[in-house]
This record gives sequence, structure tokens and C-alpha cells, in this order.
Amino acid sequence: MDQLYSFLENEGVDRALLEGVKAFRDKHPTEGENQNRVPQPEYYYYGKKTWELALAAILAGKNLLLAGPKATGKNVLSENLGALFGRPVWNVSFHINTDAAYLVGTDTYDGNRVSFRPGPIWLCAEKGGFGILDEINMAKNEALAVLHAALDFRRSLDVPGYEKIDLRPETRFIATMNYGYAGTRDLNEALTSRFAVLDMPIISEENLQKLISRRYPTISVKIRDQLVKLYAELQRKAESAEISDAALDLRGLLDAIALMEQGLSSGDALDMCIVNKSFDSYERGLIRDVICARIPADLTRNVVFSQ
Ligand SMILES: Nc1ncnc2c1ncn2[C@@H]1O[C@H](COP(=O)(O)OP(=O)(O)OP(=O)(O)O)[C@@H](O)[C@H]1O
Ligand SMILES: [Mg+2]
Repeated sequence: MDQLYSFLENEGVDRALLEGVKAFRDKHPTEGENQNRVPQPEYYYYGKKTWELALAAILAGKNLLLAGPKATGKNVLSENLGALFGRPVWNVSFHINTDAAYLVGTDTYDGNRVSFRPGPIWLCAEKGGFGILDEINMAKNEALAVLHAALDFRRSLDVPGYEKIDLRPETRFIATMNYGYAGTRDLNEALTSRFAVLDMPIISEENLQKLISRRYPTISVKIRDQLVKLYAELQRKAESAEISDAALDLRGLLDAIALMEQGLSSGDALDMCIVNKSFDSYERGLIRDVICARIPADLTRNVVFSQ
């Protein structure tokens, strides 16, 4: 956490908010049994403004909905927030069959007796955790109704047949939601209304340079900058609908660098991680042209990285 805290200081995140984080941590120290659930992030989220919005919402006791296109760092930011606030994290991936029993808890029979096995939402409530509700819009609305009281001023969970519990004051929920993917649905208004909604921006060119250099310290600065410009160009082309957003994938760009580090040529790596994400051969040609104008296909590892 201390490294992450210094990172945010260096990024120029508002002092008062960072002081607020410190005060929160002093007030709510992590307890022993939950220590191993506090994330230890490998990657940091870049974006000063987004950090400030998220910190303000959490400090104000609000739950956060991170909404945005794929690979905008929604999960990275969620985990970073858990780490920064020193809270144990429960990750819940929502899907079409997610139901209330899974979220809150259910009866199990251990051979002798029936007992209540708490679900992740219950555990967050009880242990003061941060619940990451990943892709919350993938679940059916009926399943989500159980969250309403937990997410609004009532801050409680009431499961018929069991006790009602109040959320610990430090409990927060951070939901993520992707729009743009086929098959995603909108979140109903009752639920959306219970979150502060953060519209996740696409990473800036300056931050992308920093991110790549931090992750791949030996990459050639010239090639790094071409990759950053390539990403910006794919973004422009997707915005003007010259190409679909299939290839506009930061994850893909970063993966391509990892494959080059393994010894693949730049062409093969960028094909696998960017070009081939389009399943339309005409579009693949367009994307390859954009790439080739910046990055020759035959670059080898010793050109891309300094030893
Ligand atoms: N602003 C950012 N700061 C740091 N990393 C970022 C940022 N934006 C994207 N990334 C990188 O993009 C990759 C994907 O991040 P992550 O999984 O958090 O995205 P996501 O928004 O949850 O995507 P999806 O909607 O597809 O699940 C990671 O490697 C992450 O480090
Ligand atoms: Mg995600």
C-alpha cells in the first residue's frame, strides 16, 4: 500500500483526498484474518482525475460503478482501491445465472446439520470488505434486488429466515460494467441510482507511455512511442467507424509487447494480439496497414528491447 500511496503522491493526486485515505485507514485497520484478502497489486491504475473521483466517492461512503469500454482498467482500479484503503476484497463475477443465494449465502448440510454458508456479499458486510461486483450488468435484475438495501442508506442485508445484519461502516461495493460488448445489457435504474458512476476514460498518451515503460523498462523509447501513437490512431479510426473496436484493445497492445519479449517478431505478435481480434478479413487488412505504417513487421527482440 505504501508504494501505491507514494505513486499517487507522485501522480499529483489531491493532498486532501490522500489525507482522507490515511484517516480512513487509521480508523479501520485491517484485521489479521483478513490480511491475505487485501490485494497486492502488480499494476497501478494511471489517471489522476479518475483516482480523485473514485477516492472522493469512497471517502464519502458511496458505492462506485465503473462504467466504460473494454480494457480501460476497471478491474485494475478496483483492486488498487482495495489495496489503498487496506480492505479485504471479495471479487464476484456476475453472469446470467448469478442468484441471490450465491451472493448472500445459502444453507448447506455438512452431514450433521444444516448451517448457513455466507456468500461474498455477506462476508463483505461482516468483515468491512470491498466487494468488487464485476460485470454487474450481466446478471438478471431479480438476482440483484437483494443488493438494494445493502447499497442504499439502509446498509443492511436481510435474508428471510436468517438474521439481518448491518454493513460495517467501512464496507463498500465497487461494480464494473462494460458497455459495447455484444451481450451486455443495461443496468436497471434502481440499481444504477445507488452508485456514484464513474465513466472510465481511455488512457491518455502520456500515461500510456508511463505504463509501458514501467511494465517493460528496457523497451526502446522510439518503439514505445510508435506503439502509443498506433493505439491513438486505432482509437481515432474506431471513433470514425473506419474500423470496428475489435482491435482497439489496450490489453492486446500490452500482450503484443509481452510476446515480442518472448522472441516473436513484431508482425506475429501484433497479428496475434491486435489484428486477429477482428474476424473480418477486409478489416484485418485495414488494421494491418495502420500497424505497418508505424511498426515494421520484422522487428526482433534485440531491436525492440535493449539488453
Ligand atoms: N488507466 C489505466 N491504468 C493502468 N492500466 C490500464 C489503464 N487502462 C487500461 N489498463 C491496462 O489494461 C489492461 C486491462 O485492464 P482491466 O482488466 O482492469 O480492464 P477492464 O476495464 O476491467 O476491461 P474489461 O471491461 O474488458 O473487463 C490491464 O493490463 C491494465 O493494466
Ligand atoms: Mg474487467
